[in-house]
Parts: sequence; C-alpha cells; structure tokens
Amino acid sequence: MILILDFGSQYTQLIARRVREANVYCEIHPFDFAVEKIRAMNPRGIILSGGPASLYEENAPDIDDEVLRLGCPVLGICYGLYVIAQHLGARSVGSRAREYGPATLVIDDQDALFEGLSGREHRVWMSHGDRVESIPDSLHPIAHTDNSPYAAFCTRDGRMRGIQFHPEVVHTPCGTQVLRNFVLKICGEPGEWTMANFVHTKTGEIRARVGEGDRVLMALSGGVDSAVAAALIYRAIGDRLKCVFVDTGLLRAGERERMERVFARKLGIDLTVTDASDLFLRRLAGVLDPEEKRKIIGRTFIDVFESEEVVRGARYLGQGTLYPDVIESVSFKGPSAVIKSHHNVGGLPERMKLELIEPLRLLFKDEVRALGRELGLPSEIVDREPFPGPGLAVRIVGEVTRARLELLRRADAIVVEEFARDGFGAKLWQAFAVLLPLKTVGVMGDGRSYESVIAIRAVESQDGMTADWARLPADFLARLSSRITNETKGVNRVVYDITSKPPATIEWE
Ligand code: XMP
Repeated sequence: MILILDFGSQYTQLIARRVREANVYCEIHPFDFAVEKIRAMNPRGIILSGGPASLYEENAPDIDDEVLRLGCPVLGICYGLYVIAQHLGARSVGSRAREYGPATLVIDDQDALFEGLSGREHRVWMSHGDRVESIPDSLHPIAHTDNSPYAAFCTRDGRMRGIQFHPEVVHTPCGTQVLRNFVLKICGEPGEWTMANFVHTKTGEIRARVGEGDRVLMALSGGVDSAVAAALIYRAIGDRLKCVFVDTGLLRAGERERMERVFARKLGIDLTVTDASDLFLRRLAGVLDPEEKRKIIGRTFIDVFESEEVVRGARYLGQGTLYPDVIESVSFKGPSAVIKSHHNVGGLPERMKLELIEPLRLLFKDEVRALGRELGLPSEIVDREPFPGPGLAVRIVGEVTRARLELLRRADAIVVEEFARDGFGAKLWQAFAVLLPLKTVGVMGDGRSYESVIAIRAVESQDGMTADWARLPADFLARLSSRITNETKGVNRVVYDITSKPPATIEWE
C-alpha cells in the first residue's frame, strides 16, 4: 500500500483517487500519524500532500524526521515538497513567490518520475505561496518553472522527491502519469488492486467474522452505497443477511417496487419491506422547519427499524459507510455536514448493541459503483443519482402532506423520465422537482387557475460539496414545463433554479 500523509490540501482525496486509478491501494492519514503505526503498515511508498500552511507560520505542520528514514520512497507535493526540503536543510522564501494557476514545467533531467512524458515542457497547475530558494547538496533539481527554480527535485540516492505542482488535478495533464510512475515504477507496486480482488478479500473477511449462527441486519435506503454493501455481504454469507426497506412514504415514484424487484426477486436477498408512511406523515404533520423535519424523519426511521421482528437476535449491523466519511484527515469534511443534519442510521448500533460491518469503508463513490457492477448489480441501482435520506420531505418546502407528496411525485417522475430520455443523466449530479409553498394565478382553457409552483433543480458537481446549475437547452426546458403543467393536476407554473452551491445548497431544505 501507499500511505498519503495529509497536510490539509483540498486536493488530498484526489491524490488518493489517482493512485487507486493505477490499481494501487492507498490510505490517507493525518500528517502527524504516529511513526510506529506507519512502520506497522509497511507502506511501499509515502506521499506528503499539499496544504494551506506556510512553513513560516508558527507551529507549521511537520512530520517526524523518522518518517523520512523509514527507507521507502517519498514524494512531497507542494507543501510536502517544502517539508522534505526543510528536513534536508533547504532554505525557502515566503509569500513573495506566490504562484496560482497554470505554469510551464521544464524538465531539466530525466527522472523515473517523468518516464513516458514526451518533450521537456508540460502544462502544470501551481498553487503555492512559498518557494524553495536554495537546495543542499543532497538534493538534485530535475525541473523548473519561470517562477520556481526548484519545481521538482530528487535526493541524490533517488529515494525522495519533491514536486511543486499538483499532479492530482485535471489541469496538470501529465499528472496522472507522474503519480503512476511514482507508485508503479519508483515504489514498485504491482498495480493489482482491482474490484475482483477486493470482492475476494472482503467476502473472506466477512465470512471469517460472522459465525454460522450470527445474523447481519441492513437497512436499505434505495441508494447505491447500502445496495452495494448488501450485495457484497450477501455474496459472503447468503441468507444470514437480513435486509429491511422502510417505505417512509417520502420516496420517489416506483422506488419501493424497484427495491423489491432487484433485491428480493432478482438477487434473492431476504428483504422485509415495511410501509411506515402513515407514521412518518403523522409525525410530520404541521412541521415546517427543515431541520425539525430532518430530525423527526431520522428518529422515526430508527423507531420503525427497531420494531421489526427480523431485527431481533441480530448481532451485526451492515452499513454502506464510505471512505470520505471516515478519513481522519485535516481537510476531509465539507460544510454540508454541519449545514444539514443528515439522516442515517447512525444512532442504531449503540442503542441496539449491534456491531458494525462496513465493507465499503475504504472505498470512494466511483469505486463503490465499480464494485456494484462487479457484483452484478444492474445499472438502475449502481448508476443512481444521490437521493437524500429524508427523501421528498426536503423537496417539499412547507408542510408535508400525502396530497402534496403525490403532486410532487408526479411532477418528479416526469423530470426523471425526460432527463433519462435525453441522456443528460450521465453528465449531471442530480435532477429533480421541488414543490414550493406558493400558489400563483394562471389561465387554463378560458378559466382562471390558482395553483402550485414546481421548481426544477438540475446540477453538475464532482462531489456534492460544490455544484453549478446545469445549462440545459431551452427546448428541453420548454418540454419539461409543458409536460409538468399538462400532466400534473394542481400545477400551473414551472421555474428553473439557476443558483450554484454555494450560496444555495443542492436540496432546497
Ligand atoms: P446539499 O443539499 O447539502 O446536498 O447541497 C449535498 C448532497 O447530499 C445529499 N443529501 C443527503 N444525503 N442524507 C443523505 O444521505 C441526507 O440527509 C441528505 N441531505 C442532502 C443531496 O441530495 C446532495 O447530493
């Protein structure tokens, strides 16, 4: 494995993504991760990430000198480069040398890091405030830019390297090759970490842990993560996995039927489907505040789940927790976690004294999708767009009632259908309908109407942390609007949300 020590760069997760794309397993840990733990992991190589700090700040984050003496190859990126340089006795200068954006990297000396790159000049992305001004004899410069005389260097023994640019971002076209060279050529990783191997090792681990008489419970949400986790656990232990799907009454059209079709009938998983919509709607009656809605739904979900017969006697709870949720790094959480209380089954394990099985803990979202395909899950499951736990309740501004849910579900089904038909799906992060708490005047036939407004939200995003509204063709929007107003009784106006995140969030509540 490759160890990535995180100094807080916004790009640290991208470094991990690129390394894994080379079929090499890697983990991210904070820069001050204990040396004994690193030694026990026995990494084939270490990458020091970038970070927002300046070496001139007091208490600038640093590593123990021991880390550089472990013997494996080390690559320092941006701030990571200063760290190596400083440990080896280099002198840097401060913010005078700021450089943000594109630069031309000129390779001065052929190095394993640059193998396979054609030509000496390459476009790279810079984002730094300091620069290395002079290097000690133990370091050998291998590339420069106009602004940085030591944009890349290597120790004379060839073990440690520093690069000033960011190879992990798309604006550095040669970056993927540079990182591949580091992990495959310099660290000697075999590049054999594939989803097929992952299935093999994970199912082995689950089998070893779950005894013959033990049961694993899982709450399926309809989303990709819990679905893939369930399919993987099922592959390992078959019928000892018991799944529960709670119909909250807040689902998109056809959701419950889809779960039954795929999980119970196609995969043969033991699935209990509970219709709890009455309880959810009763508890949501008269509630307008978005946070209160979210909390009520989270609590009610746990109550319903706990009351299921199948839940009794289980020892384990399976969950689809992903790597971005567990990385103990300096920069791992975006703002949405504190802006909205996300609904999940987090409170369950302690209350029910269940032990957790989280087989996706080390995977990124796109790896989970690849794993789902490896396990034979259909596209309607693995390529689903994200859907919030509290469901349509956070897409109905104002009170959630059965009638308003039905209205939104009809309009939303048209949105889903039209986006799928036009093939926008793959490019978009999410596209859905929102019901507003307004009525406006319209004219239908010869009469006056006074009906509801539907907003369409369609966004492009890499990770849901930031997003931009999709620039959809006017003809497409026109068709959406006319279908929604014609086919959804109670709607006489459709608007398109043209706000990015920030300042808005993706969901309306
Ligand atoms: P926001 O609305 O915060 O959403 O911009 C970012 C992404 O998270 C999804 N979302 C949720 N996902 N439980 C979830 O599992 C939730 O409670 C929840 N709320 C929002 C949202 O759909 C978007 O993709």
